[in-house]
Formats: sequence, C-alpha cells, structure tokens
Amino acid sequence: MERTPKIVIEHLNFTYDDGTESLVDISFTIYANEITVIFGPAGGGKSTLLRVINRLNDLTDGTQMTGRVLLDGQDIYAKEVDVAALRRKVGIVFAQPLPLPLSIRANLEYGPRLAGLRDKQRLNELVEQSLTQAALWDEVKDRLDESGFALSGGQQQRLCLARVLALEPEVILMDEPMSGLDPLSTAKIEDSMQVLKQEYSIVIVPHNIQQAARVADNAAFFLQGRLIEEGPGKKLFTNPTNKQTEDYITGRFG
Ligand SMILES: Nc1ncnc2c1ncn2[C@@H]1O[C@H](COP(=O)(O)OP(=O)(O)O)[C@@H](O)[C@H]1O
Ligand SMILES: [Mg+2]
Repeated sequence: MERTPKIVIEHLNFTYDDGTESLVDISFTIYANEITVIFGPAGGGKSTLLRVINRLNDLTDGTQMTGRVLLDGQDIYAKEVDVAALRRKVGIVFAQPLPLPLSIRANLEYGPRLAGLRDKQRLNELVEQSLTQAALWDEVKDRLDESGFALSGGQQQRLCLARVLALEPEVILMDEPMSGLDPLSTAKIEDSMQVLKQEYSIVIVPHNIQQAARVADNAAFFLQGRLIEEGPGKKLFTNPTNKQTEDYITGRFG
C-alpha cells in the first residue's frame, strides 16, 4: 500500500531556556494510518517532540526552535495557523489521566461544546462513538452521569483517550499513555489502536520495549535529542542497523 505522509519534520532543532538542546536536527516523517513509535531512554527528547507537534511548547518561555513541522504540507508554525484548530486536529494523551471534575458524559462533550457544537443528537453520537473507539463504552454506558473520577485508573485513561477522539482529530499523540495501567486496560487500548489507525495517524511513546515492538508499524529511536535510527517496527526491533539501537532494545544499554 502507498504510504501517505501526514506530518513531515524537517531539520528540527529545539532548545529550552537553560540551553538544553533537546532535539538536534531531526528530520522524520509520520505516515497516515500507521502507528509510529518514538522510543528511547528518558531525556531523549520524546516528549519535547510530541509537544512541538502539538504546539504545546508555545506555552513555555524562552524556547528556541528552528526547522519546520508540516501537517498535510502546511507549516504548523506559520503565522496564520489557528493553534486551537491545530490542537483539535492533533490531539494528545498524557501519561497521567486527568479527567475534568465532571460527569463521564460531560467530559466527552466538553471539547466539542467548546468548539461550538450544540446539537444534542450529535453530541450523544460523539459520546458513544468516542467511548466505543476507546474501548470503554460497554463499561460505562449505564453510568454516563457519574463523575469521571468514579472510574478506575485504567478507565480514566481510556476516558481521556475518548475525550481526544470526541474532537475527531486526524493525529493522536500518546505520551506513555499506559504507564500506570493494568495489563487488561493496556491490552484494550492496544487493541483499539489497531482499529483507530485505520482512520487516524497515531504516534506513541510506549512505556516499554515490549509494547513498542507489539504496536509499531514504524519506529524511531531517540537518544539524547538525536534520531539514531528509524524504520519499520518489524525490522527495527529484530534486526536494527545501529549498534546503539541494538544495545538499547536488547537491554544492554548502560
Ligand atoms: N520545560 C523544560 N525546561 C528545560 N528543560 C527541559 C524541559 N522539558 C524537558 N527538558 C529537557 O529536555 C530534554 C528532553 O526531555 P524530554 O523531551 O522530556 O525527554 P523524554 O520524553 O525522552 O524523556 C531533557 O534533557 C530534559 O531535561
Ligand atoms: Mg517523556
């Protein structure tokens, strides 16, 4: 199948205000309808990269960025870009689920309402659709008016994924979304990712190498702000080209 580039990163450099060079000359393509895995040791720049793609670093003072990030060929840092609209297209799910202090239903309706949607029927559809996509519908369909906090940690994480999906994004960024989750919730989210990728581009920082190898269509190994190696998951996790990648995936990394 022909691969369609969704996000193209060109010669990206990113520095925090203390001079930390967190990303150094990164060029990398994220394809539509694939699960892209960004992995490597802590401090490698993975979260920074996801925040650059979502323009969350705009909120951090004193950062410096050069290079370009193109979404469907459009520079997301161009002056005319509506950042709120960008963040609806490119959703992000973090390690710690943070439901709003609202009912399950209201958690899901919040984003679409903020974007101007008022139609009750359409909101109901979005609630069911997003919860189904996040593999949570069966567990909560009879308790939509209960607080989001009444859910277990694994369910809250799926609720937060559903909240992103309710905005009908094009790209879903997931930063170690399963760190604190039980194996069953992890398996449910991994299963739903396989369905979701048919419609979306998914970029995930996995919480371990086993998960990386399980889900990756394409993978990129980051070490100290540098992209060391990238390629199809099948190759990268079984037969990497680079010695540092090999050391890391075989657990020999110091
Ligand atoms: N807000 C920040 N201010 C200064 N330095 C930061 C900030 N966030 C991250 N860093 C630094 O940038 C580098 C990359 O961090 P990060 O993107 O969080 O890596 P990873 O997600 O791979 O663990 C690290 O050296 C980290 O200390
Ligand atoms: Mg991180």
